[in-house]
Amino acid sequence: MKPADARKVKIREVAPRDGFQSWPDFVPTDRKIEVIRLLIEAGITEMETTSFVSPKAIPQMRDAAEVMAGVPKGGCLHSPLVPNLKGAQLALDHGADKLVVVISATDAHNLANVRRTVAESLTDLQAIFALARERDKPVMGALAVAFGCPYQGDVSDDEVFRLADAYINGGASSVILADTTGMATPTRIVKMVKGFTSRFPEIPYSLHLHNNRGTAMANLYAALEAGARTFDTALGGIGGCPNVPLAAGNLPTEDVVFMLEDMGYDTGIDLLKIIAAARRLEPILGGTLPGQVMKSGPRDPQLAAALCGINH
Ligand code: COA
Ligand code: ZN
Repeated sequence: MKPADARKVKIREVAPRDGFQSWPDFVPTDRKIEVIRLLIEAGITEMETTSFVSPKAIPQMRDAAEVMAGVPKGGCLHSPLVPNLKGAQLALDHGADKLVVVISATDAHNLANVRRTVAESLTDLQAIFALARERDKPVMGALAVAFGCPYQGDVSDDEVFRLADAYINGGASSVILADTTGMATPTRIVKMVKGFTSRFPEIPYSLHLHNNRGTAMANLYAALEAGARTFDTALGGIGGCPNVPLAAGNLPTEDVVFMLEDMGYDTGIDLLKIIAAARRLEPILGGTLPGQVMKSGPRDPQLAAALCGINH
């Protein structure tokens, strides 16, 4: 890493997919597009804009095509999540710049999520990679429950590396290491980051950290110290398991931007605009969101008072 690059951190915004899919009510399409516009105006350059999944499995994402049609193109890479070939075809036909595919590191979680064993998913993936190659679009391979599974418990790093290897051999250009239900702690994170980067030194990777057990920001910091420079975060800290609202959010984008920028990292995201976007998201969803900086504001007392109406 060049010294200048060492201070750059890339944020992949996942609220439009991970967050809206988990919100119990369907978020109207025009409100989703409004939030996506605000995110892009704040400086987000890559996002999971939606997912092309079975509307029976995740009804909140049933407007994926309309969302893709309504969002600004060009400045931001739109990377919808796709669970199968049908989803990949639809996503590419509706303007996806990149695809995110997902396999869980355990059969139990993969069966619950996509009704396939891990081996079946690996076989299915080949057709998605072939299609993406044909259309000249990159594929990012997400590994769910990489730090522990809510059904099977511990997951070995070697199993995660075996699946990452399958992704990379298939044609994935980057990998997401996901702590889907917030089971990681900093020690596990550092071990994984070091193991991953020593095995796959050329492969970009992102950490996707849920906060179910309150460890997500500590995990991000540990990963950062170990050399990670890309993170998945969600506006307001929304996200998680469908039908468990707020129990399992992602790291709030604005909290991560606040901390990293103050530490001298460059996220390319405008803190005031991202706070304003989170504060707009709250009335759209109609519930208190887990984000903290959207409540307390930036460090500057005048700005905090102006943006968040408080002095504390
Ligand atoms: N987009 C839209 N519709 C889809 C679809 C897709 N990607 N994949 C399947 N469908 C439709 C099929 O056309 C079929 O419709 P029909 O009943 O009207 O004929 C129906 O969904 C069932 O298809 P099938 O292939 O049998 O899927 P399944 O019932 O075995 O479910 C998945 C498998 C993967 C499609 C489903 O579990 C899913 O979408 N999971 C997404 C999970 C997710 O997003 N989790 C959170 C992110 S990690
Ligand atoms: Zn997630």
